[in-house]
Amino acid sequence: MAAFWLISIVVLLLFSGESDANPAAPPQNQLDATKKKPLQTFRPYNIAHRGSNGELPEETTEAYLRAIEEGADFIETDILATKDGHLICFHDVFLDATTDVANRTEFADRKRTYEVERQIGTGWFVVDFTLRELKSLRVKQRYSFRDQQYNGKYQIITFDEYILIALYANRVVGIYPELKNPIFINQHVKWSDGKKFEDKFVETLLKYGYKGEYMSEHWLKQPLFIQSFAPSSLIYMSHMTNSPKILLIDDTTVRTQDTNQSYYEITSDSYLAFIRKYVVGIGPWKDTIIPPINNYLGPPTDLVERAHSLNLQVHPYTFRNENLFLHFDFHQDPYLEYEYWIDEIGVDGLFTDFTGSLHRFQEWTAIA
Ligand SMILES: *[C@@H]1O[C@H](CO)[C@@H](O)[C@H](O)[C@H]1NC(C)=O
Ligand SMILES: *[C@@H]1O[C@H](CO)[C@@H](O)[C@H](O)[C@H]1NC(C)=O
Repeated sequence: MAAFWLISIVVLLLFSGESDANPAAPPQNQLDATKKKPLQTFRPYNIAHRGSNGELPEETTEAYLRAIEEGADFIETDILATKDGHLICFHDVFLDATTDVANRTEFADRKRTYEVERQIGTGWFVVDFTLRELKSLRVKQRYSFRDQQYNGKYQIITFDEYILIALYANRVVGIYPELKNPIFINQHVKWSDGKKFEDKFVETLLKYGYKGEYMSEHWLKQPLFIQSFAPSSLIYMSHMTNSPKILLIDDTTVRTQDTNQSYYEITSDSYLAFIRKYVVGIGPWKDTIIPPINNYLGPPTDLVERAHSLNLQVHPYTFRNENLFLHFDFHQDPYLEYEYWIDEIGVDGLFTDFTGSLHRFQEWTAIA
């Protein structure tokens, strides 16, 4: 682990090439948040979903550096655990969709069938690979209609490496890690010290100095939102850290992985009033806030209004530029979609695959 740390620091120093940066400057200058441009807090947050993954393979150093360059307020990631207990940034519990694992003959016998969140799946699962093995894989773009030229070039990164990217950025950039599939991870990965996935996740954040309530002085230096679809994990972690948490909310047909609650239960007034003791906001799928009809927006639900009346933020996911993701109301124009969600619906943060587009929209409309 220490070796990965050092390598990442060196790599990040090489990559953090601001033209006016002094290469001899000691690293602590790059880490001193008081000397950096602060996080903007006057407009909805630009949350770079899996980095700038509209352009580069998701959750890689390159995708995160691009997102920072393009104006992200937060870089977003998904945390999973390896067979040997390391925390990594990776979205799927299986490796098939975004790595070259299927082509690697040495791992041919590693294919398994598991139940994940009440669904049976067959593939190569991250929990059956050590960190060293995962580092030997190369990642690729998830969608065939996005740029394929970076396939095979980049590696999976660790939670530590991801945090260092944010800490070494030339302005204050927040992190927004998701504790991914905690039920599945705790079933398959055991730590020698008897700790759970949630413990390891929070310990990593504390190790790098992430702490403090939303908008506290310390939070503004190292902004963090912890996110999860599992309410019991968020409640558990709230006993270990006071960092702000976001409850993710899935499609209306999906029950929570841990408490087996329906969408309607967890978005009820009484549940929101309960979970508000543990979270500062919710992260719903945008099509559940405004269910589309024949790819046109239907009438908006009152979820945003109800959440706001309880002082809960709303950070919907996921905004994507491509035509196939844009409802017809927006005339194939992603800027119109941002205008609608920011100005009409009034959300507090947006998970986007195209941080650069959201940033430009917010800059243009700030001048107007
Ligand atoms: C796997 O190998 C095939 C055949 O060489 C190649 O076309 C494909 O791009 C490879 N896939 C990955 C993800 O590397
Ligand atoms: C979850 O709740 C649904 C609806 O009440 C029920 O049908 C299902 O059996 C429950 N699943 C588990 C694993 O408890």
